[in-house]
Amino acid sequence: MEVVLLENAIEISKAVSSIIIEKVRKKPAAVLGFATGASPVETYKRMIEAYEKGLVSFRNVTTFNLDEYCGLPREDKNSYYYFMKENLFSKAGFDFSKVNFLSGDPEEGESCCEEYGKKIAAAGGIDIQLLGVGTNGHIGFNEPSDSFSDGPFKVRLTESTINSNSKYFTERPMPNYAFTMGVGDIMRAKKIILIATGESKAKAVYSMVKGPVTPHCPASILRYHPDATIFIDRESAKLL
Ligand code: GLP
Repeated sequence: MEVVLLENAIEISKAVSSIIIEKVRKKPAAVLGFATGASPVETYKRMIEAYEKGLVSFRNVTTFNLDEYCGLPREDKNSYYYFMKENLFSKAGFDFSKVNFLSGDPEEGESCCEEYGKKIAAAGGIDIQLLGVGTNGHIGFNEPSDSFSDGPFKVRLTESTINSNSKYFTERPMPNYAFTMGVGDIMRAKKIILIATGESKAKAVYSMVKGPVTPHCPASILRYHPDATIFIDRESAKLL
């Protein structure tokens, strides 16, 4: 695992967007795994800018998002589908027929999990998986637990995640469950890029980089990936 320390979130977004854009220029039908949350937003802005300047086309890219809340329809402003549509897909020329999401439908969701894993494999695997990290070390919605997950599954969110994310839910209570790609799905990506900025991530960054590799800090498994890079800023690197 390579650790890259940069001055701030803007510098990180420049570096990460360049890697993604470079990949898509070399392989226009690349398969990209995307994350939601605040961490990748600046990177998405740089990708939109590059698209607007005509420097890259995402038209042939296939995407897989990491996770979705259980019980939120796509049109819900708090759904991750909505987030991706607003923050990237509709502004950077992505083909929505190549955009893949776990369903947030409580009934359909579980059966769609197995399907999702197969779809990733059928697409040839993920070329670059972008990740953030939860304050508790989660990746996607793989919460700390006694074992590492493999394929996509339904997860009960921990109190710590509910505390961190409920600020976004102003009109309705935050769901207690979500669907997420498993740790195995993430680890099968050919390249992984994780972004962690701000002091609130310092403990998670320390555990991920210096602590034991354990499912109690799911992000720590990235140390076993042959091509994983963690981009951190001064604040999130504070405890290293
Ligand atoms: C959320 C998402 C993750 C995200 C993480 C960090 O709960 N499920 O995919 O990476 O928490 O979010 P943020 O970037 O807003 O700190």
